[in-house]
Amino acid sequence: MGLLLYTMVLVALLVILWRISSVARYWIKFLVFGLVSVFSSCAPIPIMLLRPRDSRNALLPAAGLRACCRFLGITHSVEGLENTVKNSGCVILLNHQSMLDLIVLACLWPVMDNCTVISKKEVFYMQPFGLASWLWGTIFIDRAAKGAKDAVNKTGETIRSRKARVLMFPEGTRNMSKKLLPFKKGAFHLALASRCPIQPVAVSRFSFLGNQRFDDGHIRIKILPQIPTEGLTVDDLPKLMDKAYNIMSENVDQITKINEEKSTNNCKLKVN
Ligand SMILES: *[C@@H]1O[C@H](CO)[C@@H](O)[C@H](O)[C@H]1NC(C)=O
Ligand SMILES: *[C@@H]1O[C@H](CO)[C@@H](O)[C@H](O)[C@H]1NC(C)=O
Ligand SMILES: *[C@@H]1O[C@H](CO)[C@@H](O)[C@H](O)[C@H]1NC(C)=O
Repeated sequence: MGLLLYTMVLVALLVILWRISSVARYWIKFLVFGLVSVFSSCAPIPIMLLRPRDSRNALLPAAGLRACCRFLGITHSVEGLENTVKNSGCVILLNHQSMLDLIVLACLWPVMDNCTVISKKEVFYMQPFGLASWLWGTIFIDRAAKGAKDAVNKTGETIRSRKARVLMFPEGTRNMSKKLLPFKKGAFHLALASRCPIQPVAVSRFSFLGNQRFDDGHIRIKILPQIPTEGLTVDDLPKLMDKAYNIMSENVDQITKINEEKSTNNCKLKVN
């Protein structure tokens, strides 16, 4: 009885804070997002055990995250599906802004077969998330290992033979500024080693997110035409990186602009 009362008071308090304070809304939204991420990743483990190392195991967590978007006030759309690389593995490049990029993964996972991600092997030891992550086919790498180049070749082979789509953030860290950070080489070395195409994907800037501000908003995701890597060598790496950077940067700007124009129009409609 005491616990019930306590919970009700806590919920009432959170609802009041949500109503009166945008800072509280920011923290509550992130708290719920974190809880949903962990819960929807780990709760389906018993089902995932039925077919280990299968990318479809992440479909339930992905659905959980997409459902959570309604609470967060986030809508999303994916365009350019016709550009999806068919019948081979590929390295998918995404711009990296926030923890909320998990939503982008959750939108891409069901529309593309054989998605996977690469994680540091330390993530595997964060149980039970590590197990869940292994079950949906995450490729774990040892960053500290001596044979780092070997590992890239081996991972490249895995991508090729499994026809896997590896989702990567070439900027390396997340950043909310208006310009993409310079790309790191890792994803490109991997693409060369896999002898598979690169598939750039642009995500609109999260203008709804700011310093302790988390408004409602729309995430626009655009799958861009593949960049072939056939016949390229390490010498071609700088040119390849420049090409990918320019295409992504241009498209992030473009879809962000479309997004902002649309949301202004919506506001005008509401006022009228
Ligand atoms: C996904 O992987 C399976 C098994 O490796 C393969 O048969 C299938 O063609 C792949 N799908 C795509 C779209 O590449
Ligand atoms: C990786 O693969 C490339 C080309 O397949 C080969 O030239 C290189 O020696 C390999 N590197 C290692 C460390 O095995
Ligand atoms: C994002 O990048 C800009 C420019 O390099 C830098 O000033 C800023 O500190 C970065 N922010 C984060 C959160 O990394």
